[in-house]
Amino acid sequence: MSEENKNDVVTGASETIDASSGSSMLEHEEPKKEEATSPWPGPKGMIPVTSGKADDANVHNRVFLDNILVEMRVIDSVEPDLTTTILGRKYASPLMPAAVSHLNKVLSDKTRKPMQEKAMAARNMDLLNWIGMETNEEYGEIVSQGGDTIRIIKPFADHHKILDEIKFAEDHGAVAVGIDIDHIAGKNGKYDVVDGIPLGSITMDDLKHYAASTKLPFIAKGVLSVSDALKARQAGCKAIVVSHHHGRVPFGVPPLAVLPDIKKALAGSGMEIYADGSLMTGYDAYKALAMGADAVLIGRGILSELLQSGTKAVEDKLKQMNEQLAEMMMYTSVKDTKSFDPSVLHY
Ligand SMILES: Cc1cc2nc3c(=O)[nH]c(=O)nc-3n(C[C@H](O)[C@H](O)[C@H](O)COP(=O)(O)O)c2cc1C
Repeated sequence: MSEENKNDVVTGASETIDASSGSSMLEHEEPKKEEATSPWPGPKGMIPVTSGKADDANVHNRVFLDNILVEMRVIDSVEPDLTTTILGRKYASPLMPAAVSHLNKVLSDKTRKPMQEKAMAARNMDLLNWIGMETNEEYGEIVSQGGDTIRIIKPFADHHKILDEIKFAEDHGAVAVGIDIDHIAGKNGKYDVVDGIPLGSITMDDLKHYAASTKLPFIAKGVLSVSDALKARQAGCKAIVVSHHHGRVPFGVPPLAVLPDIKKALAGSGMEIYADGSLMTGYDAYKALAMGADAVLIGRGILSELLQSGTKAVEDKLKQMNEQLAEMMMYTSVKDTKSFDPSVLHY
C-alpha cells in the first residue's frame, strides 16, 4: 500500500491518503464522541443514560414540567385526602413505583435485591407497585414480598412467551398486566433485542388477542398519541400509560403535553390513564394529576434512593413526594384525588 502525506489547508492537520483506495483519514485525533452519562449508580445498558441534548426526550420533559406554573386557591382549602382508587382497589396515594427491571443485576453487593426492596417499600406504603421485564421465576420471587403488582411484559417476537407471562402474572395475583408497546425499536432501526430475546411488532390484532386472553385488566404502556390511545381502547385495554419510557423515542414529545388531548379522546371510555416521565417530586406529580392522569408512575425519582440505600430510602422519598403533592393540593383547594382541576395550571 502506498501512502502520501499532505497538509489540510484549513486546519493544518496532516492527512494520510491511501493512494490505492483513494480513502483518506485525518491523522490528528478524531474529536471524541461525547459519552452519554448516567446520573444513577449501576452499569450502562441497564441504567438509563442521558445525552442531555435535544434528541433526549427527558430534556423536553423537564423544560415542559418546569414551565407549568400554578395559581393559588386557598380560601376554604383543607388538608387533602390522598387515597386513590386504581382499577377498583384503594391505595394510600396516586404515586406508583414504576415498572423497572433488571435491578437485581446492577449492584456489586449481590446480597441486595433492589427489585424486592422496591416491592417492600410499595407494600409498606400501601402503593401499587409495577414490575417490568423479569423472567417468570424472578417475577415470582419479587411478588412473594406481598403487596399489589402490575406486570408489564415486553413486546416479545414470540407471542407464546407473552401469553405465558400473562398467565403467570394472573396465577400470581397481579392486579393487571400489560405490554410496553413503546419498546419495539432498537437503536439500529430493527426490532430491539433485550437480554438476547428478540422483540417484535404489536399489531391491533395482537393487542386484542392479549387483552382478551386474560381476566385481568390489560394495559398499553407507552402511549404518546391520540391515535395509539384510540387503538388501545379499540383493542380492549382497560388503561394506558402516557409515557415515552424515559426517552426511548428521540425528540419524544413530553407525555404531559399530549395527556390533555388523550384524556379528551378517551372521555366516556371508562379507561384509566396513568402518566410518567421525569416526575421527580410531588410537585411534578401534582402537575401530571392536574393535567388529567388518574395516577402516576415514579421511576427515576426513586432510583438513586433504591440503588444506594434500599427500602427505607425509597419510602422516605415517596413520603416526601406525598407531602409535596398534598402541599400543592392544599394551595389549590384540591380536597382529594378525584378533584384535580387543570384550570389552576398556567403554561
Ligand atoms: C432501570 C429501568 C428499567 C426499566 N425497565 C422497564 C421495563 O422493563 N418495562 C417497562 O415498561 N418500563 C421500564 N422502564 C421505564 C419506566 O417504567 C418508566 O416508564 C420510565 O422510567 C419513565 O418514568 P421516570 O421518568 O419516572 O423514570 C424502566 C426504567 C428504568 C429506570
